[in-house]
Amino acid sequence: MPFKFLTLEVANRVATLTVNRPDKLNALNDATIAELGHAIDEIRVDDSIGGVIVTGAGRAFVAGADISELSSQTPVLAKARARAGQDVFRRIETCPKPIIAAVNGFALGGGCELAMACHVRIASDAAKFGQPESKLGILPGYGGSQRLPRLVGKGRAMQLLMTGETIDAAEAYRIGLVNKLAPAAELMNVAREMMKTILANGPLAVALCIEAIDRGLEMSLEEGLILEANHFGLLAATDDMREGMRAFMEKRAPAFKGK
Ligand code: COA
Repeated sequence: MPFKFLTLEVANRVATLTVNRPDKLNALNDATIAELGHAIDEIRVDDSIGGVIVTGAGRAFVAGADISELSSQTPVLAKARARAGQDVFRRIETCPKPIIAAVNGFALGGGCELAMACHVRIASDAAKFGQPESKLGILPGYGGSQRLPRLVGKGRAMQLLMTGETIDAAEAYRIGLVNKLAPAAELMNVAREMMKTILANGPLAVALCIEAIDRGLEMSLEEGLILEANHFGLLAATDDMREGMRAFMEKRAPAFKGK
């Protein structure tokens, strides 16, 4: 499907999904949110794609939801907008294929929320993070009030949401909002390198790691442990488990088939 505000390129089983509205710092208007939803649905079922790197065109990752659209919203429309964006970001978060955010610049508001919906975040030294919604008299609507405390803890999330302050990549790394830092010129290479490492592993195992962590975080420890044991049992039925262990014993690289 052709996109107006995104580009989607695939090379070596890695899709690069770029939010491409650079004149508006890639602000997420409703159409871009809808396109993100279509893109993730396509990626999910496309066997030529093993994983996704999400980034932004130009100097921003994403500078937030499009304020020009938000400015006229009614309560009913605002709730519907939040639910629609949350649904798309949840489809990203629960995608069984690994998704890395390569944060190249401003990741504010919806941009920070998009990065947090991805499984891993790598930030360039030019990246800036924040949830500035309270400066506009609103709160995050695409999951920021829920994912940020899960990532960085309640106190830091409170501070970031209440002050609306912007933090640099080093601070985002220090508080655990990003997994890894990279020089700006190296950002995409570092992201591709991490993706290559992930894609060398069993795809079913990776998919169930995503599910175990995502679902497990919302369960009691007892329930989460059962989920983990069930996944552990399921993987024991796969050719990939036999291949992975055989390859280890034969001192060679495994050739996983996702079966
Ligand atoms: N929604 C709509 N348009 C946005 C936007 C957003 N969230 N963020 C940036 N833009 C637009 C600007 O309006 C401007 O458009 P224009 O050239 O037609 O006037 C263009 O992108 C460039 O932004 P500008 O503000 O001129 O760049 P800057 O370098 O001076 O400042 C930011 C960069 C990110 C600090 C600033 O754009 C900003 O604060 N953006 C809003 C961040 C925010 O509050 N996000 C949460 C929204 S809920």
